[in-house]
Formats: sequence, structure tokens, C-alpha cells
Amino acid sequence: MQGSANLNVMIKAARLAGRSLVKDFREVENLQVSMKGAGDFVSRADLAAEKIIRDELMGTRPNYGWCGEESDEVEGTDPTRRWIVDPLDGTTNFLHGLPHWAVSIALEYKGEIVAGVIFDPAKDEMFVAEKGQGAWLNESRLRVSGRNKMIEACFATGLPFGGRADLPETLQDLARVLPVCSGVRRWGAAALDLAYVAAGRYDGYWERGLHAWDIAAGIVIAREAGALVEPITKGGDIMADGELVCANEPLFDQFAKVIRGN
Ligand code: IPD
Repeated sequence: MQGSANLNVMIKAARLAGRSLVKDFREVENLQVSMKGAGDFVSRADLAAEKIIRDELMGTRPNYGWCGEESDEVEGTDPTRRWIVDPLDGTTNFLHGLPHWAVSIALEYKGEIVAGVIFDPAKDEMFVAEKGQGAWLNESRLRVSGRNKMIEACFATGLPFGGRADLPETLQDLARVLPVCSGVRRWGAAALDLAYVAAGRYDGYWERGLHAWDIAAGIVIAREAGALVEPITKGGDIMADGELVCANEPLFDQFAKVIRGN
């Protein structure tokens, strides 16, 4: 794919951060970890990766805004553009030595995500998309699955941890979805859940209680691969509310109906 200059900067930043994270992942047992809120761990690796990405992106586009998981938000002198970054999505997996985590970088323009990069260095998988240009995994074009029967579909979600308030809703979701599908996975990295819908590995995904940096890049990648992505509450705002339902087109209405409970 011939990406724009911005996409190329995002890919470069993701690779640099990925290299640093892989080194730290090998030494995961020696990492210094600190507690940040209930059940939410931040590692030294996470902070180092965010600095690498920030230096690269803000060094190249100093006028853009910045929204990263590990640092304060900055409004750019260009108020229309903002980087939205999760340097390490799947932190709990990383800290437990589970090789399922990713770097997630998005570019927002006038409130819309126009480019996204999700890099999984452990599997050397680079998912990228730009609005109107399709979605790609390494050199291959991505397309969502063609499954159209709920009972054959495999979905992903996230389960609330550490006393999060959305546990009852999620349990109700599961009680409605599990009997009518072929399986639900909880692999612990929202960015990769969306990328996997784009790749046709999952047929759909839903989750509540997310942050913009968990999902920004994944939204454009999933949409560019043909997925529909909507707020769970009709008329809501995905990024502000932190909840979404996503699936291939043939399944979307059936799946969203089950998740919305109506
Ligand atoms: C988490 C992961 C997880 C999701 C959580 C997120 P983090 O992001 O994406 O899959 O269920 O809600 O907070 O903390 O690893 O960047």
C-alpha cells in the first residue's frame, strides 16, 4: 500500500516502539511495575514506548495535538488534528508474558479517525488503514469475514476487571450472546480485537468501558476492511462513551440487536 506521509510516520513510530517493547517483553519478569488505579498496571516498558512514539510523531508534526494513555493531553496549534496513542494495548498480557499485545496509533482530523496503525511485534503483524484507501495487514489487503449466521460466528469482547462498574451489563451481554453464537473470546487487547475483525478472524466485537486510545486506530482499520462500527447506545458517541459494537455487514444487525437487547 502507498501510504501518505503521515501514515509512514505512524508506521515508523510503531516499529520503533515495538522494537523497544519486544526487548522489554523478553525481560518481563524484571520489569518494574507500578499500580495505576484499580487493576491497571503500567510498566516501564509502556512509558518508554510512549516516549518513543511521542518523540517521533510530535517531532515530525509539532503542531498536531496529542492524546496518549500515559501522558497529559496536549492541544495542538493545529486544533483540527490529533494523535491518539496507546503505546501498549494489552498491558496485562504483556506483564504476564502472554504474547498478545500491540502498539496502537491513530490520527484524528476534525473529530474523525482518518488513519490507524496497530502493530503486534510478537507476531510481526502490522495492520494499517487510511480513510478511503482500504485496510492492510503487512502486504495483504484486509477484508472482513463473510459469515452471515449468528450460530456460526465467533465474537470477541472484553471483560471488566478490578471492580469496574460495567460488570452487570457485560454479564447480561454474555447471557444473550453465548447461546446464539459459536464462541466468544476475551484475549485482552481491544486494538487487536478490532484488527482481527478487519482480518476476518473474528466475525464481530463489542466492549464497554473503553478509552479512545484503545479503539481509535482499530475503528478505521475495521471500517476500511468492510466492518460496521457503531455505538452500543444508538445516537451515542463511541469515543466519548467508550463502547462499541462492530461486525461484518451481513451479521451486524442481528449481532447489534443481541448486544443492545432489543
Ligand atoms: C485494555 C485492553 C483490554 C480491554 C481494556 C483496556 P490496556 O487496554 O484493551 O482488552 O478490555 O478495557 O483497558 O490497559 O492494556 O492499554
